[in-house]
Amino acid sequence: MTDVTATDAPATADAATDSLTVRDNRTGQSYDIAITDNTIKAADLGQIRLDEGPGLATYDPGFVNTASCRSSVTFIDGEEGILEYRGYPIEQLAEKSNFLEVAYLLIHGALPSKAEYDAWVHEITYHTFVHENVKSFTEGFRYDAHPMGMLMASTGALSTFYPDARNINDVENRHLQIVRMIAKMPTLGAWSFRHTQGKPFVYPDNDLSYTANFLSMLFKMSEQRFEADERLVKALDVLFILHADHEQNASTNAVRSVGSTQVDPYSAVSAGVGALFGPLHGGANEAVLRMLRRIGTTSEIPAFIEGVKDGNEKLMGFGHRVYKNYDPRARIIKKAAEDVFEVTGTNPLLDIALELEKIALEDEYFIKRKLYPNVDFYSGLIYEAFQFPPEMFTVLFAIGRTPGWLAQWLELVQDKEQKIARPKQIYTGDRTLDFVPASERWA
Ligand code: CMC
Repeated sequence: MTDVTATDAPATADAATDSLTVRDNRTGQSYDIAITDNTIKAADLGQIRLDEGPGLATYDPGFVNTASCRSSVTFIDGEEGILEYRGYPIEQLAEKSNFLEVAYLLIHGALPSKAEYDAWVHEITYHTFVHENVKSFTEGFRYDAHPMGMLMASTGALSTFYPDARNINDVENRHLQIVRMIAKMPTLGAWSFRHTQGKPFVYPDNDLSYTANFLSMLFKMSEQRFEADERLVKALDVLFILHADHEQNASTNAVRSVGSTQVDPYSAVSAGVGALFGPLHGGANEAVLRMLRRIGTTSEIPAFIEGVKDGNEKLMGFGHRVYKNYDPRARIIKKAAEDVFEVTGTNPLLDIALELEKIALEDEYFIKRKLYPNVDFYSGLIYEAFQFPPEMFTVLFAIGRTPGWLAQWLELVQDKEQKIARPKQIYTGDRTLDFVPASERWA
């Protein structure tokens, strides 16, 4: 059934209310295109054509104005600075929930009962171990391998340990892979870190909470049990919550795009880890720390800002495709930073960050472009207080984002409207050249 009607009549105000009337000035023909949920179907434009030529398409590099799916996972109002998971405001979840409960909420769409919560935590806790071979291939990476590169590889490698994951149409099977992945990401992330440190891998301690166990796998040495300060465990748990989903961001789009081929979820999530690695996405927190170090003192900030305005570089940790207001996560992180610094002592780079934010928020360049601090502006400072090297920052982001990727993947595989992701292009190259063999070209 088509949602577009062609008429020879000029566009009129009488067209159906929930429709868009467009007039193709090349032909003089007008079309009524149905509007649903404030969008038109790009495929409907395909019926607008000149003679027998190809149908009209949209050109949207970076998908700046294209909805790729229907989703009930996360709501963002970028103008107002609102973020909700399954309808619950991020502020309330960060304050009153914990990461595994939020993971349950994202995956199942509703908060768990006590019995559901206990079963969920039990399941996740008892899937934290990975096959011993993961250890041996992690050891095979170079001593200075980036942990995100290792995480991307080991996440993808899980598909070889669980070939049953290819059965994506089975509800119970999907659930098992989701549990496995949420459970094993901290183990994979921690082991990437231990490898870069040349330290022995620490096995999961299933008597600890999800986040406390992660810290144990990262930092335990010869002690019987690594017991992190509860305030630090809480702060890291909050950071995981803040990163748990962010609707159709670049890495989620990567997960959905790869998942649309009906590949197993480990391969799809591995693509998400790769996308997150980039400095314009999750890698920004690492870039912020390096930037703050380079600036060095508050007196250097004005010169740095001038360089940004001249287009020499970006102010990392600022700006967002969706938020044209203060990123609500940045606000919560700023508060979490205070809690962490109470335990660890303050980070001298915080003064530079605060001053940088103050100057940028008063500067016409940033005001005009609606550039505010995003989630990555302060998170690196907290991570550094935990004594994570910058290379680990994005790994922390990836662990937090895993339930979101999986919730979106789950939605994708059940969505009858979804198809293999395959965009169009505007071809700009040569056509029908005559191939001249090398022996003649090089003669
Ligand atoms: N510093 C200086 N100028 C900026 C910045 C920035 N951080 N961000 C955007 N602009 C300018 C940009 O140059 C452009 O100016 P003009 O109109 O004069 O050409 C204008 O603002 C619009 O920017 P855009 O590049 O069209 O915006 P976008 O939606 O394509 O990019 C972004 C969004 C997040 C990639 C970008 O703001 C950026 O590169 N920020 C720095 C990297 C960063 O902090 N990334 C983390 C994002 S939040 C967490 C996550 O997604 O992982």
